[in-house]
Amino acid sequence: MLIYSFCLWLCYTGVSVPAKLVELYLDLRASTEEHVRGFTEPSSEKLLPDLHPQEQHVFTLVLDLNETLLYSDWKRDRGWRTFKRPGVDDFLEHLAQFYEIIVYSDQQAMYVDPIVDRLDGKHCIRYRLSRAATRYQDGKHYRDLSKLNRDPSRILYVSGNALESCLQPENCVPVKPWKCEADDTALVDLIPFLDYVARHRPADIRPVLTSYHGHDIPKEFIERNKEHQRSRSNMGVCGDALEKMQIENGFSTSLR
Ligand SMILES: *[C@@H]1O[C@H](CO)[C@@H](O)[C@H](O)[C@H]1NC(C)=O
Repeated sequence: MLIYSFCLWLCYTGVSVPAKLVELYLDLRASTEEHVRGFTEPSSEKLLPDLHPQEQHVFTLVLDLNETLLYSDWKRDRGWRTFKRPGVDDFLEHLAQFYEIIVYSDQQAMYVDPIVDRLDGKHCIRYRLSRAATRYQDGKHYRDLSKLNRDPSRILYVSGNALESCLQPENCVPVKPWKCEADDTALVDLIPFLDYVARHRPADIRPVLTSYHGHDIPKEFIERNKEHQRSRSNMGVCGDALEKMQIENGFSTSLR
């Protein structure tokens, strides 16, 4: 209504619109948009408290729960049951030395909290985010990493359903979804790559992860490492200097 009368008035008079009126209109619009967004957005603009000033360089490892660290399903005769993925304890304990670890689930907090309590006896997981922290869109709950209050160049999201459950594909580390297979090694296989990233700290993780798209990360990482070793040994003495330069430029190029 406001827009309509606005236009009529403009068209008839042909004079410029007073700045105050434009401001009023923009304010009104912004507050309406705010209101509409309130229904679909995570409960807060900042889902996590600030990183400690001494941890500004630390990367944040965001982990999904179901089909990633564990598997929970429901059967009529026994209700809910939850199974730990093989290697999950080692995975958490090793990576908690280097990363700020967070669980981000699309399940309700009343389900997430007791499960994480049992899973994480050693307190490797610093924060838990549940359904209220997701963004509801097209009938699904998505993880929104832009609301974490963390630098997006230092966030990795590991999930068995990464690309389908997150709004930032450039931060995704897909792993095979786990459905209770006993011979699964996916979490342990991912440790060398995540360890390397944490130690070498690329300037921005997003182009690195994008370069791995469509590849199995653990396998591709080993391949790139081998290639890197080969080219280094071919270069002989010069190898060291180049290696140093590549790392100073943000990340060893062989791992891109
Ligand atoms: C976990 O995933 C399985 C398979 O997709 C599904 O049947 C189950 O309901 C999920 N569990 C939870 C707690 O969402």
